[in-house]
This record gives sequence, C-alpha cells and structure tokens, in this order.
Amino acid sequence: MIKEKISLSIHEMTVVAMMVAIIAILGVLPGIPLGFIPVPIILQNMGIMIAGELLGPKLGTIAVWLFLFLVALGFPLLSGGRGGMVTILGPTGGYILTWLFVPLLIGLSLRLGWRYGIVEWITEFLIVWLWGAIFVEGVGAIWLANQLRTTFIPALASNILFVFGDTIKALMAVSITRRLRHIKVAS
Ligand code: BTN
Repeated sequence: MIKEKISLSIHEMTVVAMMVAIIAILGVLPGIPLGFIPVPIILQNMGIMIAGELLGPKLGTIAVWLFLFLVALGFPLLSGGRGGMVTILGPTGGYILTWLFVPLLIGLSLRLGWRYGIVEWITEFLIVWLWGAIFVEGVGAIWLANQLRTTFIPALASNILFVFGDTIKALMAVSITRRLRHIKVAS
C-alpha cells in the first residue's frame, strides 16, 4: 500500500527529472553578492516556486528534495556552481532548507484554493509569493541571524532587499506556470 503511494510512473519520473534540471539550470547564473550580508540575489529560487506550482505537492517536493540531495552529495548545482553540506549548513542554509517545504505548501494551498474555487491569477500569485518568497526570507533571516551571531531584526531588515526581486520571480513563476499548465505534468 505504502509502496504503491510513493512509487512513480515513468511519466512522473521524467517530469521530476526535468524539474531538477530546470532548477539546476537556473543556478548556472552566479548569484549577485550584496556585500553586507553573505546572501546573494539568485534566480534559482524561482525554480523552487515553479516546482510547487506546476508539479504539485508530491512531485514538486520529490523534485526539490532530489535536487538538494544531489547538492548535499557535493554536486555543484547551487547558484554559481556550489554544493556540499558545508554550503547547505552555511549562512544561506536557512533559505536552502526551507525550500524543502515550499512545494508542499504551495501545492497544498493551491489545491485548497481550487477546491473552493478561489484560485485566480492574483490568488495564485499571493500563494506563491507567501510561501516561495516571504516564508523563505523569514526563516532564512532567523538562520542568518544565528550564523552571524546577530539579532533577528537586522537580519530580517537586510532581507527586505530580497522582497522586490522575489516578488518579480513569483510573478514570473505564476506567468510561466499558467501558460504551461495545460500540459499534463502532475498526477
Ligand atoms: C545559496 O545558493 O547558497 C542559496 C542562496 C539563497 C538566497 C536567498 S533565496 C531568498 C532570497 N532571494 C534571493 O534572491 N536571495 C535570497
């Protein structure tokens, strides 16, 4: 029974592999360093948003966990060709580890919204923005504060810089996904 639930069809495996590849490709662009905090502006987090939105909670989560498993093994798939446990547990670790839950939260929120018939462009954007941007930035800031031995407020304040870019990425993720959704990707 459990085996049946976690086993994937060839189609699903292909979709997951493609999503892992897309997230990796978005990491080819090196991050833009900010200088005053050790957290770059990246494009890769848009792939995490798309994973939850396009693939749904199950396949999106599998794709992101697989991606980060490869990173943990040392594959240089994070922005600018970085990888390994040292990177995952470094100053940006809070953002990276929060990504593990983003597809689940986006996917389940969208399903709930669809059930009640409230998912329009704007509601979809708000869901992606809340979980894919704001939630990640908030948890990332807590982790960052701990790493830098500072208090949460300055770490959170420095994250306000990311809100603008992440909002644009959420808009792009919704725009791309809504165009692609007619192709059946998630089961
Ligand atoms: C890494 O490659 O080490 C992860 C970097 C995490 C960067 C975070 S994700 C949310 C926020 N938006 C950005 O563009 N950068 C930060």
